[in-house]
Amino acid sequence: MKSFFLSLGIFILFSVKVKADEGMWLPQLLQSLNEKEMKRMGMKISAADIYSISKSSLKDAIVSFGGFCTAEVISDKGLLLTNHHCGFDAIQNHSSLTDNYIQKGFWAKNYGQELPNQSLFATFIVRIEEVTNTVLAGLPANISEKERQSLIDKNIAQLRKDYKKETYEDLIIRPFFDGNKYYLFVTETYRDVRLVGAPPSSIGNFGKDTDNWMWPRHTGDFSMFRIYAGKDNKPAAYSPENVPYTPKRSLKISLKGLKEGDFTMVFGFPGRTNEYLTAAAVKQVMTVNDPAKIKIRHQALDVLNRYMRSDEKIRIQYAAKYASVENAYKKWQGEVLGLTRSGAVDKKLAYEMEFTKRVNANPQWKAAYSDLLPKLNEAYAMIEPYAYARDYYNEVMPRIELMGIAADMNSLVIAYAKDEASYLKRKEEIRIKLEETYKEYNMQVDRSLFESLIALYSVDQPGNYVSPILKQSLTNQQQTYLAVAADLYAKTSFAYPDSMYALLAKTPAETIEAIGADPAYQLYLDMNKTYTTNVSPKLNEWQSNINQWQRSYMKAQLEVFPEKKFYPDANGTLRVTYGNVKPYQPSNGVSYHYYTYMEGIMEKYKPGDYEFDVPQKLIDLYKTKDFGRYGVNGKQPVCFIAANHTTGGNSGSPALDAYGNLVGLNFDRVWEGTMSDLNYDASICRNIMVDIRYILFIVDKFAGATNLIAEMNISSGK
Ligand code: ARG
Ligand code: GLU
Repeated sequence: MKSFFLSLGIFILFSVKVKADEGMWLPQLLQSLNEKEMKRMGMKISAADIYSISKSSLKDAIVSFGGFCTAEVISDKGLLLTNHHCGFDAIQNHSSLTDNYIQKGFWAKNYGQELPNQSLFATFIVRIEEVTNTVLAGLPANISEKERQSLIDKNIAQLRKDYKKETYEDLIIRPFFDGNKYYLFVTETYRDVRLVGAPPSSIGNFGKDTDNWMWPRHTGDFSMFRIYAGKDNKPAAYSPENVPYTPKRSLKISLKGLKEGDFTMVFGFPGRTNEYLTAAAVKQVMTVNDPAKIKIRHQALDVLNRYMRSDEKIRIQYAAKYASVENAYKKWQGEVLGLTRSGAVDKKLAYEMEFTKRVNANPQWKAAYSDLLPKLNEAYAMIEPYAYARDYYNEVMPRIELMGIAADMNSLVIAYAKDEASYLKRKEEIRIKLEETYKEYNMQVDRSLFESLIALYSVDQPGNYVSPILKQSLTNQQQTYLAVAADLYAKTSFAYPDSMYALLAKTPAETIEAIGADPAYQLYLDMNKTYTTNVSPKLNEWQSNINQWQRSYMKAQLEVFPEKKFYPDANGTLRVTYGNVKPYQPSNGVSYHYYTYMEGIMEKYKPGDYEFDVPQKLIDLYKTKDFGRYGVNGKQPVCFIAANHTTGGNSGSPALDAYGNLVGLNFDRVWEGTMSDLNYDASICRNIMVDIRYILFIVDKFAGATNLIAEMNISSGK
């Protein structure tokens, strides 16, 4: 009997404990929280080799790439490795019908051919410090969320003023654990980042949307850039005079490869996770928000697909937009599936029962925390209709360029009301933005998107969330969206670059008048007003309650489960995650190996196909087994998986072996495990990486860019 209770106790303990491979850890805390476990799992270096502020460490080779991906320095000439999909916007911007780098790939033969990219940047983390006490100093109890935030903002502003840093450094201060802790990051940002190389899409995005978020995978999802610095090696705005950056640290590359059970870690900038939500919150994502967003994107993708498949120019124009809409669309579907299959809501409910039991057993906790879960449950019920309307507004509006342009025109109207200088400044910004917009725009496509999405917006929502002007024009047009769209796009100036530029060329007063009279502007204003009047006030009110109670719930979890090692949710800051190379069983009777080889590329090969075509040169290299030093036993490894806890933003992150050598490049997660953003499940969550040997094989053998290979520090041995 005693041993039964003992094992029950152990079982409960185990079910709350974070599994070894779960977690996105702060690099400066590895030593105290993780080093022992990492070594037990196979790591051969120390926490100080990963993060140190007194000597060079691996962190000095990792950058936030443009704020949306990760990249790493792989040569002492500032060469950066990241994903093809991270560099895609740059690749697309330099592409034209004649020089289509998406299709053909791009390889600079020398520094002079490397292509600059406006607004792309690379940010290093110089050091990280906890600043909780400073940021939360002097906060009285029982103040409103708004007052609390404004006091915090004041403290942060003061901290920024007082903090000693170099002139070329910046500060980032972020909340962790839902605002229970704050950390400060000293950063150094380089703004001259040039495109160096990219394989053709048929390699860099092989399998496209069909294979996206899936395993087994055969994608060479990589591209290369270079950081340029001023003559003093410090950050400098783009200039032809700039020189390749000399890094504090660049990663060593190992060609040794990995086998099952080997230690790996991924070092990068994960964007956002929500691991500590309540069961009710997760259920809402799963049954309300994800399905709504999936439905809207499904429509949008249908429209885009129709046009892109029949017109090469449209295909190039909309390629990046399509990929980004499709990416989250597919992820959310995997998320719903994974949450369902892994019983995430029930697991959360069991956790909440244990939480409540512990809280009720302790008078102090009972007084402070026992009302939290009921309050949060009520809040989620209350916010549901508004959150649904928010999803509709936020999914529909950004898909329609006409609405985006109208929003910009609105900002011009606001600037005009201020003064002439603001107007002129804003007009110039808009002119530049419009040029970008129209480059990737086709009137018919946009009109079809409008038709299709506005229909969902009007039909799926309660009437008071729908713009009255839209309802009126539907009545005028015999209730057909087609006619509403045709009428609007015939009358607005915003849909046509020429008339748009002509409108902006008028005197300020005339321009403002013409904007005011434009039907697209009037519709935009009305949709916006409907949303800000009938949705956002209640949405914000409940969201603010949720934020406050979730912060307390987080604090309570940290206290009530002292045996559990907590990691903060991803928030775009530098993290380390680690685990072992592992196969997985996605469902009953199915088992996936952890490595793929070029055989798989040839199995998937469909000549001429939009997703599965393979360049002839790659086929030839495969047939002659010309893998150089990158193959093993006559086979060329391509991708592998491991149990590293990653999320969006970790794209382009280095996969490092037990010695801290670069062995792969993170680019995706497996379909069944994308729910790891809300509820990590060690049995099915895997990250997907390209093997560094496939990357080098492509650079060396396929592209012949031996100049780049020569820059790198490659070791074939142990
Ligand atoms: N799923 C990966 C990520 O979230 C890759 C996306 C790019 N590829 C694509 N086919 N859209 O970013
Ligand atoms: N592809 C993702 C990115 O762009 C990484 C995959 C994931 O979400 O884990 O960051």
